[in-house]
Amino acid sequence: VVLRVSSHVIWYTALSMDGRIADGQDSLDWIEAIGPYEGSGTEFHAFLATIDAAVVGASTLRWLLRGGHGWPHGDLPTWLVSHDPGLVDRVGPTEAPFTRVEGNLEPVFEAIAAAGHRRVWLCGGGDVAGQALALDRIDEVVVTIAPVALGKGPSLFEGLALPHRTFQLAECRPLGGGAARLRWERARG
Ligand SMILES: NC(=O)c1ccc[n+]([C@@H]2O[C@H](COP(=O)([O-])OP(=O)(O)OC[C@H]3O[C@@H](n4cnc5c(N)ncnc54)[C@H](OP(=O)(O)O)[C@@H]3O)[C@@H](O)[C@H]2O)c1
Repeated sequence: VVLRVSSHVIWYTALSMDGRIADGQDSLDWIEAIGPYEGSGTEFHAFLATIDAAVVGASTLRWLLRGGHGWPHGDLPTWLVSHDPGLVDRVGPTEAPFTRVEGNLEPVFEAIAAAGHRRVWLCGGGDVAGQALALDRIDEVVVTIAPVALGKGPSLFEGLALPHRTFQLAECRPLGGGAARLRWERARG
């Protein structure tokens, strides 16, 4: 008997009121529109503590590199989605394996599951998230909505004709600081 165990993939991100994850200048300064709230410093770390692998898109990684952050999650086995082999060199050595992939992401999610990773953080961006949604590989979406609209910029899911996947609302609450937390779980079948 062959047991096929899949990973639980979570797209966890900050979002503007108009559904964008970055503004037209590729900046995340707008996230500061969220005022201080209880747990703001610890919540993301608590989430990260439940994660055992990460998937990141080239533009999201380039944004981090431009900010001088490097890849802050080098302790997590990470799959970088990019056509650019040079990006791996720019990240440098990491504690956990850092693997570049390109093309169809289906075998990538298969490989992550086969490696035994149960909870996977999709770090972004909207382009990679849109492909994962099209493949029905998004199991959970967790967004922190900032009280600001941006008008332009990549959206939560990018794609020309995304299939209409439905989700169940699992959480919907004021977070404090003007922000809202929404969490959905994929409703299959
Ligand atoms: N609000 C938040 O918390 C948050 C979270 C994450 C990201 N962001 C922001 O979102 C922006 C990036 O999002 P995005 O949607 O524009 O981009 P993204 O998903 O991070 O990256 C898209 C890029 O990845 C590469 N790529 C995507 N699919 C591929 C495939 N199947 N095979 C090979 N390469 C592939 C391509 O670049 P190459 O061809 O150049 O490799 C593509 O242009 C950044 O500004 C980032 O800071 C914000």
